[in-house]
Amino acid sequence: MKVLVIGSGAREHALCRSLSLDPAVTALHCAPGNAGIAEVAELHQVDALDGAAVSALAAELGADLVVVGPEAPLVAGVADALRAAGVPVFGPSKEAARLEGSKAFAKDVMAAAGVPTARSYVCTTPEEVGAALDAFGAPYVVKDDGLAAGKGVVVTDDIEAAEAHSAACDRVVIEEYLDGPEVSLFAVTDGETVVPLQPAQDFKRALDGDEGPNTGGMGAYSPLPWADPKLVDEVLHSVLQPTVDEMRRRGTPFSGLLYAGLALTSRGIRVIEFNARFGDPETQVVLARLQTPLAGVLMAAATGDLAHLEPLRWTDEAAVTVVVASHNYPGTPRTGDPITGLDEVAAQDAPHTYVLHAGTRREGDTVLSAGGRVLSVTATGKDLTEARDRAYTAVARVRLDGSQHRSDIAARAAADA
Ligand code: AMP
Ligand code: GLY
Repeated sequence: MKVLVIGSGAREHALCRSLSLDPAVTALHCAPGNAGIAEVAELHQVDALDGAAVSALAAELGADLVVVGPEAPLVAGVADALRAAGVPVFGPSKEAARLEGSKAFAKDVMAAAGVPTARSYVCTTPEEVGAALDAFGAPYVVKDDGLAAGKGVVVTDDIEAAEAHSAACDRVVIEEYLDGPEVSLFAVTDGETVVPLQPAQDFKRALDGDEGPNTGGMGAYSPLPWADPKLVDEVLHSVLQPTVDEMRRRGTPFSGLLYAGLALTSRGIRVIEFNARFGDPETQVVLARLQTPLAGVLMAAATGDLAHLEPLRWTDEAAVTVVVASHNYPGTPRTGDPITGLDEVAAQDAPHTYVLHAGTRREGDTVLSAGGRVLSVTATGKDLTEARDRAYTAVARVRLDGSQHRSDIAARAAADA
């Protein structure tokens, strides 16, 4: 099977790594990719938002399957262009990707499907914003309605900060504050059958102790030893399947990866958000534990054949990933700095520990930083303590001037396990 992956983050590196280990994959391509992905896939230049260009590349490569990693191409309709060209694609249509692309749309689908989520108001004027903030009280939760790479949400006790964020967005969703731990649960779906993966937990805030601004995610781990073993089943029946059924009922079936961001509140499970693609960095730990070869799973979703898929197999091992980010991330990051120590990780920590690249590029023999999140150092181990120790040992070998990472990824879960 010839596979083309679209994207250039650590999520795509994780996807490419798993696909490269799958004996069914005879050729692996990625566009645009990064310096790390180049080691497992052949890279191509393409405007990932241009459906015609991506379809032309898929045709030129004779791709049997295209996997679209990030949300922006999905929301731009790249999967539609590929389907129209007759290429099997893992990723939802433009209409279905609105589950991620518009928070107001997602709320509407959840209401219709009876899926539990935070109560909310969609607001466009300062008067509506004021009334909604008053109605819920602090802590205030204000979300930009459109795509914002995980950075469009402000959670604050400060009413002026809540008003300022609202004023900076065209349209916001203001909602009740959800307490309780967060869980990311992914499901692969062909629009009808829903196959949940293993849950993971992400660390959204920039700094240790969940301080600082929201980011795209600074680390993740899986499994969640503290979670109820029935959690996945409960989310499948109360969230994932009803949402997929509602999208099909609307004539816009959702096929690809449905990502449920959940809060386990004192009043039960609530959806914080949906995403229409694999999460980053959670994918790094979920795929580290998946034993079933990946290509067949994604192909079954792309071709409407998930009902016939064998149950997924998982290792009992734990996985932890720690994101190394550039100076000033999640603000405008500093880029162009050399990264060293990657060879040491490869020589001393493989195969249980490896570096997945995000914002990197190669210049001659040097790997340079090229984005906000630069690397995702991923490790497996017999439990979270071992996986975390291994990940941080490797993080310490990687040198990037001015870089930052959290030192408490999976710390509490490992200590409590
Ligand atoms: P989102 O982009 O909707 O996932 O929001 C980003 C992050 O903001 C989430 O992972 C939560 O940590 C936080 N957040 C979003 N909505 C709420 C809410 N209703 N209550 C508490 N925290 C929230
Ligand atoms: N880790 C959060 C996301 O992928 O949106």
